[in-house]
Amino acid sequence: MGTRTEGLLGKLICVLLSCLMVMAAASSRATIMGKVSNTKFHHHSERLRRNLLANGLGKSPPMGWNSWNHFWCDINEDIVKAAADALVSSGLSKLGYEYVNIDDCWGEQVRDENGNLQAKNATFPSGIKALADYVHSKGLKLGMYSSAGYYTCSKQMPGSLGYEEQDAKTFALWGVDYLKYDNCYTDGSKPMDRYPIMTRALMKAGRPIYYSLCEWGDMHPALWGFQVGNSWRTTGDITDTFESVMSRADANEVYADYARPGGWNDPDMLEVGNGGMTKDEYIIHFSLWAISKAPLLLGCDVRNLTKDTMDIIGNKEVIAINQDPLGVQAKKVRTDVEIWTAPLSGYRFAVLIVNRDQWPANVTTHLEDFGIPPKTSVTARDLWEHKTLETPLAGNLSANLDPHTCKMYLLQPIS
Ligand code: GLA
Repeated sequence: MGTRTEGLLGKLICVLLSCLMVMAAASSRATIMGKVSNTKFHHHSERLRRNLLANGLGKSPPMGWNSWNHFWCDINEDIVKAAADALVSSGLSKLGYEYVNIDDCWGEQVRDENGNLQAKNATFPSGIKALADYVHSKGLKLGMYSSAGYYTCSKQMPGSLGYEEQDAKTFALWGVDYLKYDNCYTDGSKPMDRYPIMTRALMKAGRPIYYSLCEWGDMHPALWGFQVGNSWRTTGDITDTFESVMSRADANEVYADYARPGGWNDPDMLEVGNGGMTKDEYIIHFSLWAISKAPLLLGCDVRNLTKDTMDIIGNKEVIAINQDPLGVQAKKVRTDVEIWTAPLSGYRFAVLIVNRDQWPANVTTHLEDFGIPPKTSVTARDLWEHKTLETPLAGNLSANLDPHTCKMYLLQPIS
């Protein structure tokens, strides 16, 4: 055999061997993953193999308003209509805030004689269908709330456990566009068994309804939620304090790899505008939710928005980070002075530097830490100052931060 033929034969054998190795690695990975999912989810993995929820919703995180964080159970149809009016008159609806979501306490204590949920006559006398028509007439969408249990969490109305199909049909009939589904007063069965029953019921009801799982992160819904819902709470209830905001952002970050268009991690609704934090702290709160691709559901009284609140929730540039079509949730890349970063469409990057401490901080960070190749020149847009830095960055980004403040940048490589 000539040397050339031997060389070719050698190359062929190498290619064949590499193929075999790749196939072996792939099959052992599949086995490992099979084992993980088998041990973790047992029969659930089989049942959830196909995506139950092909509703095409939540391509970007949902935006809107929800009654709970400000009004708790003290709601009625006038408040909900006025919230819809305010989203439009303030200009917020044009920025993407489209859902008007009623939380707990909208229903009568008992179902009607046919087993249907009924709106509470004292507070929602016109009924939910009329409210949905009103909200739709404003170009907005209506969200409702129920629980995968015998009662909702307030225990003031029935939950949907055992009535999933009937309730999904009722919601569809009323023109509901979003369902938040809570986890109180259950039969003790696992959420990964109970929540898909409503998924199927919603699919059968024939109306696209955004499905928001609210099981507080108990059974790691990020691991199974994508097949079941459009978003899943990763945390317990938020309160209007800086500590609560930061702890929820941290807990939510753990699951960053599981968020994607159609299925989002949800660290709970916004508290911006409810009065418990400083303006700077609310800016941190909003920036973290935006960069984490969290649902942007306002939890304040949108009928009475201050200029400070509007400056925050109306920041188009920060909203654009949240709604970016790439749909990648930010991760922390540094924790002494905290730096969160996420890639964006168009080879751009969002960066959030947060000083969560009680003393000032100076930070210099390497752009390489964000995945930007060395020697790349980068323009930096300060998203809260609404200014592009005059000199493009080369290698480093520096910032001085007062206690409980942040800096948020959009970085765009130019060479
Ligand atoms: C639970 C949820 C909250 C809210 C209340 C209503 O606590 O996590 O977001 O919906 O129930 O009772």
